[in-house]
Amino acid sequence: MTERTRTIGLSLGADLCWPACYEEIVRRLQLAIPLRDDVIKFHVERVTVEPFDLRQPCRYDVVLDRLTHWFHTSREWIKKSVILDGLYVLNNPWSLQAMEKHTSYCAMMRLGVPVPETWLIPPKEHAPSADIKPTLERYARLFDLGEIGERLGYPLYMKPYDGGAWVGVTRIESEEALRAAYEQSGTRVMHLQRAVDPHDLFVRCIGVGPQVHVVRYDPGAALHDRYKVDFHFCDADEWSVLQDTTLTINAFFGWEFNSCESLRRSAGPRAGEFCPIDFANACPDFQVTSLHYHFPEMVKNMIRWSLFCAATKRAMPLTLDWEPFFAVARKELPYRERLAGYAAIARERMQADRFAEFCHQHLAHLNEVTWEFFGGAQAKGFVRAKVAALFPEHEIEKFTEHFWGLIQFWRKTEADRLGLERPVVDESRARADSE
Ligand SMILES: Nc1ncnc2c1ncn2[C@@H]1O[C@H](COP(=O)(O)OP(=O)(O)OP(=O)(O)O)[C@@H](O)[C@H]1O
Ligand SMILES: [Mg+2]
Repeated sequence: MTERTRTIGLSLGADLCWPACYEEIVRRLQLAIPLRDDVIKFHVERVTVEPFDLRQPCRYDVVLDRLTHWFHTSREWIKKSVILDGLYVLNNPWSLQAMEKHTSYCAMMRLGVPVPETWLIPPKEHAPSADIKPTLERYARLFDLGEIGERLGYPLYMKPYDGGAWVGVTRIESEEALRAAYEQSGTRVMHLQRAVDPHDLFVRCIGVGPQVHVVRYDPGAALHDRYKVDFHFCDADEWSVLQDTTLTINAFFGWEFNSCESLRRSAGPRAGEFCPIDFANACPDFQVTSLHYHFPEMVKNMIRWSLFCAATKRAMPLTLDWEPFFAVARKELPYRERLAGYAAIARERMQADRFAEFCHQHLAHLNEVTWEFFGGAQAKGFVRAKVAALFPEHEIEKFTEHFWGLIQFWRKTEADRLGLERPVVDESRARADSE
């Protein structure tokens, strides 16, 4: 048997807590995975930003990247490394660059996903350019904003066609408010979208490869309190719809780390239906200060999928190949069957069966190692470092204890789930370790 080392690069920005946890847990796993004639070991290191020769080889097998969607030097290094060196990254960088919210709405409408009625409207103002005047004079048709509002119905949302981070989003209740919001919208190209109203549930479904983590979400809460600790907010059928929807979206766009937001309608003939409203969120929030209770599961999901991709040298899918999805759409099956058809394509593309087998055979100790790790002072130090980077001095202690307490609650529920018999929160040890 030949020993081979797979190198995983972490391409990071302000991230502090998850990479530190990822590195330490992978180290503690002490992996030496037999695969065919090889024994696979892993080396994790952080990617630096520097000039590069386009022909220089890339020493990473897999890169977990947090920069592509906003830091172009790293994005272009990743694109070169995928093409020239066969690098694997979780989100297809070309797809990430090209597909905004608007494309994601159109594509999922074609698959029959119940995205709310949405219009695109030309911007209120245009940046001056030589061509804009003749273009508008010749071809821009006057339109009645009130009429579009009437057709969509109120309440509705005005939001940028390529939006993110809740910038420029307005809830609109009347024609008057619609006109006022349009006046304020400047040069941005906007969508008008019918509100899913009323709704009784808001979920974020975070996909990492074929794994989907569903969390109840409260967009109106303070930043540290949006991801809820809640367990029975949807039943098994609903969970499976959310999982299939997320996998469909992610496989369709070549995103393997993406978050999909859906609202559950609570009245009218379509009550109970989940409407996805925002699902072009590749590379979503991965901070312990947002995810708290859910953070250890996310770290585990990331570890599983990245180790699988690195160990098996999974080939990065370079083209998106939408036709098989459209072929299922054309069958005009009842929606749930169509969705299952899309999700089957997604699972096949993401090698869900082989991945499950890999985790079962080689990563069975991950749950316990992670559970142990999040009970110790080292993990608490990583949480504190993130809190210290975000919160004012006088709140560091309070919020460190807050997030740490939620992680300890996760350890309790996890111990129940895994049937661990050890004392659950060994605070004396955590304290002793930190002294
Ligand atoms: N059709 C809709 N029905 C009901 N609520 C909506 C709808 N569209 C948007 N919202 C509300 O507006 C918020 C922001 O909209 P959206 O998620 O589309 O924008 P965003 O800029 O991508 O925000 P974020 O980055 O916070 O997810 C949502 O979290 C939700 O509360
Ligand atoms: Mg959103």
